[in-house]
Amino acid sequence: MKYHTLRGMHDILPEEAEKIHRVEVIARRVFKNFNYSEIKIPTLEEASLFLRTIGETSDIVEKQMYIFKDKGDRTVALRPEGTAGVVRAFIEHNLDGRAAITKLFYCGSMFRYERPQEGRYREFEQIGCEYFGNSTALCDAEVITVAKKILDECGVKQKILINSIGCKKCRPSYTKIITDYASKIKHTLCNDCQRRLAQNPLRVLDCKIDAPKLKDFPKSEEHLCDNCKTHFNQLKNILESQDIDFEIEHRLVRGLDYYTGVVFEIKSDNLASQDTIAAGGRYDGLVEELGGKPTPACGFALGVERLILSSKLSEIPQQKKIFIAITNISFQKNALNLASSLRNKNYTVDGPFAGKSLKSQLNLASKLGFQYVVIFGEEEFKKGEIILKDMNSGEQKRVTTQNIFEKIQGEQDETKISAT
Ligand code: HAM
Repeated sequence: MKYHTLRGMHDILPEEAEKIHRVEVIARRVFKNFNYSEIKIPTLEEASLFLRTIGETSDIVEKQMYIFKDKGDRTVALRPEGTAGVVRAFIEHNLDGRAAITKLFYCGSMFRYERPQEGRYREFEQIGCEYFGNSTALCDAEVITVAKKILDECGVKQKILINSIGCKKCRPSYTKIITDYASKIKHTLCNDCQRRLAQNPLRVLDCKIDAPKLKDFPKSEEHLCDNCKTHFNQLKNILESQDIDFEIEHRLVRGLDYYTGVVFEIKSDNLASQDTIAAGGRYDGLVEELGGKPTPACGFALGVERLILSSKLSEIPQQKKIFIAITNISFQKNALNLASSLRNKNYTVDGPFAGKSLKSQLNLASKLGFQYVVIFGEEEFKKGEIILKDMNSGEQKRVTTQNIFEKIQGEQDETKISAT
């Protein structure tokens, strides 16, 4: 019997894993630039943590959670997202006691039992951050800037959409306005929206089926309280002052219950479906809701697979890889010495391989995607030289073991590499 991955799960093969690694390297650097520290949280949590935070009527909780009883009869769930777990950890470890602000980031697998398609999987990788303790619009602007910078550096063409869905004070009245508005055409709405009208009315605004029927819906921006209005205007001003392009998307309400005020999504220009690469917003009530002190907070998460689908990562130059070939076993020691020196300089090096003809070594180097092959040949070695072959252009140069490094770099480098 042959085994296959479960539906919606996917193996991450080396090329994809390498891209994920590169995204993580870029993200970690950006987070560090903005003074975020990494947090690692468990994959499994009490299911009620997600029910309470994401919301019982959200799609995630209603349809997509991997939820089961463990051997201790506890109802647990594979995390569908990172925010709830980070907030739990923030409270559990009194992280707010250390300083007035706390800035955390995370990378890891999330699980949602969704209908699989390109860019939508049942296990997927998120990179996200949560910024606690700053209620100003500068915090929202920073979170958006961080997301944008990571996507920019990965070569993703993007569009930033923002909205404000109001706070505890102004959202209930706006929700009522939308309920009244949509109720007038209730009989024409899809089954999901008829149900949403009773449980989660704002979600009718971003329903793919019903959106066209709700063309002239009242906009939340026009119904914000003074605080939310000022905050939203300040955010717009900061983004403008930093030349960050954005659009106001009045339909943007997000599918998770914990948001208050500013919400945003970043979409890719070149993905047809599943084009939301990153999303987030402010959630000022969540820490208190889970038993912590009242703490303003804002964050985002990006989907790494979606980012890779829409990125130009494969066009970003990679670290050069060098293959070492020998024409005679007597060069093995020198070849191993050179390999070791190059690895100490952080190059990816493979070889030498004993017992293979030069032709088959070159073949192997080409199949493995090596850009350079260093060949130890009889004639050249007598003169203290080796051959450097550029596999892309086919060009071959004789170089000394001392200047191979500068030839590969394409620039002067005084570092001496010893092959003896
Ligand atoms: P979310 O919008 O549910 O937000 O997910 C964020 C991103 O994860 C999406 O924009 C998408 O790129 C990716 N994603 C979601 N579901 C899938 C899937 N099934 N397959 C592949 N990628 C997927 C959150 O998770 C919030 N926790 C974001 C946040 C952080 N808000 C505040 N802080």
